[in-house]
Amino acid sequence: MQHRRIGETEVSAIGLGGMPMSIEGRPESEDRSLRTIHAALDAGITLIDTADAYHMGPDDVGHNESLIAKALAAYAGDTSDVVVATKGGHLRPGDGSWTLDGSPQHLKEACEASLKRLGVESIGLYQFHRPDPEVPFADSVGALRDLLDDGKIRMAGVSNVNVDQIREAQDILGGRLASVQNEYSPAFRSSRPELDLCTEMGIAFLPWSPLGGIGSAGDLGSEHAPFKDLADVRGVSPQQVALAWMLATSPIIIPIPGSSRPETIRDSAAAADLQLASDEVAQVDAA
Ligand SMILES: NC(=O)c1ccc[n+]([C@@H]2O[C@H](COP(=O)([O-])OP(=O)(O)OC[C@H]3O[C@@H](n4cnc5c(N)ncnc54)[C@H](OP(=O)(O)O)[C@@H]3O)[C@@H](O)[C@H]2O)c1
Repeated sequence: MQHRRIGETEVSAIGLGGMPMSIEGRPESEDRSLRTIHAALDAGITLIDTADAYHMGPDDVGHNESLIAKALAAYAGDTSDVVVATKGGHLRPGDGSWTLDGSPQHLKEACEASLKRLGVESIGLYQFHRPDPEVPFADSVGALRDLLDDGKIRMAGVSNVNVDQIREAQDILGGRLASVQNEYSPAFRSSRPELDLCTEMGIAFLPWSPLGGIGSAGDLGSEHAPFKDLADVRGVSPQQVALAWMLATSPIIIPIPGSSRPETIRDSAAAADLQLASDEVAQVDAA
């Protein structure tokens, strides 16, 4: 497994996104989710992305964090180098919607609850899930700064942000912004300015829904012919080509494909070993 850095911490170049194991459509059997997380660890994945909001009803807040904690505790191998990256700032009232609370008080309480569910004294990477129009961005990021200063979190990141917000967060955190998590995939490339800024600033960029999202990931090849054509030539899946293309785009990209089956995360993890030639990157870049 190839490695990359979030701040000073080495993680696998491909992470595991936990969302499909906990929101609507999640596997009925918890065992399948545990096997998926174990398959990721077996494949050398040491970054797992989650959020307190990856759950369904109000009665199972933090479902995904609890699942990951359970899987890590049950794993036979060494998990000391695994970074669990969680988030706060979104709420799910139970009607399928995603609401926001970016107030410092909420973020600090949410972080305490995540610490408990993950069973750790300090969270590896804590990300502010999405700017809340009702709360000044500086106040929300100020809560992350306090959590860093108090040792509750080891690294801080922001998600769903624009270039001005990245610069502002870096300023408020005194140069300690470790990561940015925005949507980026073959179908959705409008986060390119944020990706380019992260490359320039040396901040890790974690593309979310890198395969097009839970309902669309299977159609990546049929919807993006150049990815399918290259996949056929290389004898791999179009999804693997998409992840390898991202890795080739910038040294700071760490895709976090979601998975709820061992087969899919194994296939995605193998993208770290798929080296694309520059003409192959250009071919799909133009797609
Ligand atoms: N910050 C944010 O606002 C935000 C928003 C959305 C997502 N995220 C994070 O980003 C992660 C990834 O996004 P996502 O889960 O929405 O979408 P995604 O990664 O684009 O797609 C996930 C789906 O892809 C399928 N898949 C994975 N690897 C595959 C492969 N090699 N071949 C074929 N299918 C494959 C999985 O199927 P199976 O389920 O059948 O395994 C899964 O349901 C999430 O899990 C979450 O951690 C963050």
